[in-house]
Amino acid sequence: MRRSRLGDALDLSIIGLGAWVFGGGGMRHGFGPQPDQDSMATIQRALDVGINWIDTAPVYGLGHSETVIGRALAGRPEVLVATKFGLTWAPGKSRYRRCLEPASIVQELEASLRRLGRERIDLYQLHWPAGGGDLEAAWSAVAALAAQGKLRCAGLCNVNEEQIARLQTIYPIASVQLPYNMIERGAGKRLFGFCARQGIGVLAYAPLRAGLLSGEMTAARAAQLPADDWRSRTPDFHPPLLEVNLELVERLRELATELDTSAAALALAWVLCREEVSAVIVGARCAAQIAETARAATLELPAAAVERIAGWLGARDRAARALRSRAKLR
Ligand SMILES: NC(=O)c1ccc[n+]([C@@H]2O[C@H](COP(=O)([O-])OP(=O)(O)OC[C@H]3O[C@@H](n4cnc5c(N)ncnc54)[C@H](OP(=O)(O)O)[C@@H]3O)[C@@H](O)[C@H]2O)c1
Repeated sequence: MRRSRLGDALDLSIIGLGAWVFGGGGMRHGFGPQPDQDSMATIQRALDVGINWIDTAPVYGLGHSETVIGRALAGRPEVLVATKFGLTWAPGKSRYRRCLEPASIVQELEASLRRLGRERIDLYQLHWPAGGGDLEAAWSAVAALAAQGKLRCAGLCNVNEEQIARLQTIYPIASVQLPYNMIERGAGKRLFGFCARQGIGVLAYAPLRAGLLSGEMTAARAAQLPADDWRSRTPDFHPPLLEVNLELVERLRELATELDTSAAALALAWVLCREEVSAVIVGARCAAQIAETARAATLELPAAAVERIAGWLGARDRAARALRSRAKLR
């Protein structure tokens, strides 16, 4: 699979495997039940199809996602691991909070290394900025950990231009993670140009809008999502917005058939079309899902297809806006 250079050290395959779902069920902010053996098989298949990195976070399953990855990658130091910091929880509690205190970051990193069974993290990322003035202290703590050899590169997630500019002078920012898919295009619009000018890589997450664009999400399935799947509480997965979204997916399915591919691979290839995107991070529950979506790595979208999709996205956005303003009037 093609690779993308991040900072001056990391060569990432243009598709990375997202490990949020591996955290498992029983938590409000998860994807519902997920057997570990399925997660292990998914990781193995991802490596088989040429993916060379996994994105995770301590908060995914409160350590469980990192533990599963540590088990799956034992004896595979060449596979790159990106994890995060800044969301912490008290032992025995399932609620997490944002915390960017330097001492907490040091503890978080040590706990991640233990769970992953590694001596250093390839890409260490600030998960969510707390919004306060402690961002600089947090980033200085990251710089100190890098100087100790505990991480190779560092990145940010879910930040704005002003926050990137503030931190850039303290320690190099290798990458910025942001949501980018056919439904959520705002963060990309705001940051693609800026990151390109600054030489910062962009890692686009949730390219399938958490499975909504996979072609396998139906109204019946969305209605049955378990309470411990965060999507069960998300407007995009509920009528009336769900109907507008599934209308778009129907168009994608038709186009995918014409192009001899699947809606999932098409949705991913559409993100990869953006030259500002260094790599996409896609989640998968089972080996077959990652094998399918990884086909996007070699799928060249004809310009005419991109144009047709742009028309459908415009129509979808107008319909979604109309629904929102009707809801406000009520
Ligand atoms: N930095 C951050 O704040 C942040 C935030 C969100 C995500 N991320 C990262 O980005 C990764 C990816 O995002 P995501 O997992 O939220 O969403 P995603 O990649 O858009 O969607 C993944 C989900 O789509 C479904 N799916 C995947 N491949 C499929 C296929 N071939 N056919 C049918 N369904 C398929 C699966 O769920 P079902 O089968 O259950 O539908 C899978 O769990 C995360 O794992 C995480 O590493 C980072």
